[in-house]
Amino acid sequence: MRYSLAGLVHLACTCHLVIGAAVFNWPDPLIDNIDDQLYRPFFSPVSTFALGCGQRDNTSIAAEWLRIAYHDMATHDIDSGTGGLDASIAYELDRPQNIGVGMRGTLEDFLVSPIEHVGMADVLAMGAISAVIGCGGPAIPFRAGRIDATEAGPETVPEPQQDLASHIESFRRQGFSATEMISLVACGHSLGGVRKADFPLIVTEDEPTDVKTFASTVGFDNTVVKEYLDGSTQNVLVMGSNVTTRSDLRIFSSDNNATMQNLASPDSFNQICGDLIERMINTVPSTVTLTEPIEPLDFKVTDTFLFPQGGSLAFLATLRIIDSALNRTVTLFWKERTGKFCPDAGCSSGSFQVDSEAASLLATLKGVNTFKFYRFNAAIDLATSISHFWFEVNNNDGSTPLIVDNQGKNFVIDQDVLLFDPRRTSATIGGLIMVAAVKNPFSTAAVSAFTTIKGTTAVPVIGSVTTNFELDSSHPPADGYTFYTSPTSFLHLNRLSDTLHATVDGEAYSVWVPTVVGTGV
Ligand code: HEM
Ligand SMILES: *[C@@H]1O[C@H](CO)[C@@H](O)[C@H](O)[C@H]1NC(C)=O
Ligand SMILES: *[C@@H]1O[C@H](CO)[C@@H](O)[C@H](O)[C@H]1NC(C)=O
Ligand SMILES: *[C@@H]1O[C@H](CO)[C@@H](O)[C@H](O)[C@H]1NC(C)=O
Ligand SMILES: *[C@@H]1O[C@H](CO)[C@@H](O)[C@H](O)[C@H]1NC(C)=O
Repeated sequence: MRYSLAGLVHLACTCHLVIGAAVFNWPDPLIDNIDDQLYRPFFSPVSTFALGCGQRDNTSIAAEWLRIAYHDMATHDIDSGTGGLDASIAYELDRPQNIGVGMRGTLEDFLVSPIEHVGMADVLAMGAISAVIGCGGPAIPFRAGRIDATEAGPETVPEPQQDLASHIESFRRQGFSATEMISLVACGHSLGGVRKADFPLIVTEDEPTDVKTFASTVGFDNTVVKEYLDGSTQNVLVMGSNVTTRSDLRIFSSDNNATMQNLASPDSFNQICGDLIERMINTVPSTVTLTEPIEPLDFKVTDTFLFPQGGSLAFLATLRIIDSALNRTVTLFWKERTGKFCPDAGCSSGSFQVDSEAASLLATLKGVNTFKFYRFNAAIDLATSISHFWFEVNNNDGSTPLIVDNQGKNFVIDQDVLLFDPRRTSATIGGLIMVAAVKNPFSTAAVSAFTTIKGTTAVPVIGSVTTNFELDSSHPPADGYTFYTSPTSFLHLNRLSDTLHATVDGEAYSVWVPTVVGTGV
């Protein structure tokens, strides 16, 4: 019964992998940012650093990223539904269980990656996926929505000197059977090794290397399994001189090698490891609900800014399309917020620039090689403003143009009272001076920014700060808007993202300012 259900679910998932199934209801800062981190190279360390299974600290970045994901998850208790992948590891680094330069190093890699809507736990999960493919392993689906812990979890990471019964119980608590334990340890110990400096009782003085690798190959593959079975293994947790710490040997041989023999086929290894690492990163507290898997979006609205400029509202928007090398034209359409200005079919504007960008390795594994960005800079009538917009995509091949309108719901601009003004915003040596525009007339307005800031190497967790904006005489009222400015000392290099908030005549408004606001967009 359980098996056939699993079969059905798997079938359904295969269908969803068809490009075009990803549903993106704009605006959605979570999906928007995750899509960038997973599928746009150089946008975030996640899609970039572990490429090519690059070496670091005498092991690989990927090995460090995969190990931290397991250790962070290992706080899960299936009986109470607590713990799991929740970035609590940031508070657990001083424990002997979590010794190793790779732990803090990984959190430092990711300091710039979380934003208000994407926590470090999601980033650690993306890092594990990236680590596996960076070393040639299978592509694992990603679901978002993990919630970061604010304190340490229990000390439940298994250690090599513990006996087999303790390990079976640890994995049961984490949600894995004894068989799955064998596989998951073999999958994890495909990468990296044991550090002499940190484990001198395991990698002893007579060993010539600083890191005793589990397998003779660097990549994510089943060499660790094959070498165990054929007796050539150098895995120090199998044949180290200290019998007490031969935990891999006890685990691997705990079912008379049946599971290890199953993993001797590269296809089974990839299949089983992909499934188990997916379950590992999806192990979260029972109060957390993850999204559907996030596949590359066919059509993604991005980099939208609406602000007053020279007698109209400037509206910057970009439509990103998965490239299929067509001679395509894209037109932006919009409708008024109040009154009548546009033709019945809507006001429209063609793209002023089209550029392309190669997709990330993970995207290419899903059949997506290039993204094309259609960029718009429309002048919106001030008096009638804008309520919603959509796009028409014409392939110029005789086929009916495609309407991209948020699944029929349109891309709705929910308000034009509080706007972020990228052109009046400026970067100075003293910091970033952000400018918000508030629509006249009003009798009272209070404007602030909620800013997500990156952690420090001493405290590798993200933080946040709220800053009040002031009326600024250097930006006199214009185009029916009044301008508010953040303090000069407003955090600059440490800013990860902002949401602007305002209370205008008792009404609350907010607007999300996407990450890395290049000032003067
Ligand atoms: C009984 C369970 C386990 C024990 C006792 C254990 C023990 C260890 C030890 C002692 C190290 C050396 C760490 C260092 O020197 O930095 C290590 C490394 C590693 N472990 Fe495990 N481990 C277990 C399970 C797992 C699992 C389930 C995974 C992931 C799926 C995993 C992934 C890794 C990776 C990738 C490394 C290499 C880290 C690097 O090279 O920087 N381990 N493990
Ligand atoms: C690797 O090990 C060597 C030999 O001990 C050491 O000198 C070197 O600093 C290590 N490299 C890194 C990147 O840690
Ligand atoms: C073997 O490892 C155990 C656990 O770390 C340690 O207590 C013991 O002293 C070690 N034995 C030797 C001979 O180093
Ligand atoms: C499991 O495999 C190892 C390595 O080949 C071997 O030493 C051991 O005897 C095997 N155990 C069983 C029960 O077959
Ligand atoms: C591309 O489409 C435009 C607009 O229809 C057309 O003017 C142009 O000739 C087409 N170019 C090619 C190479 O088909």
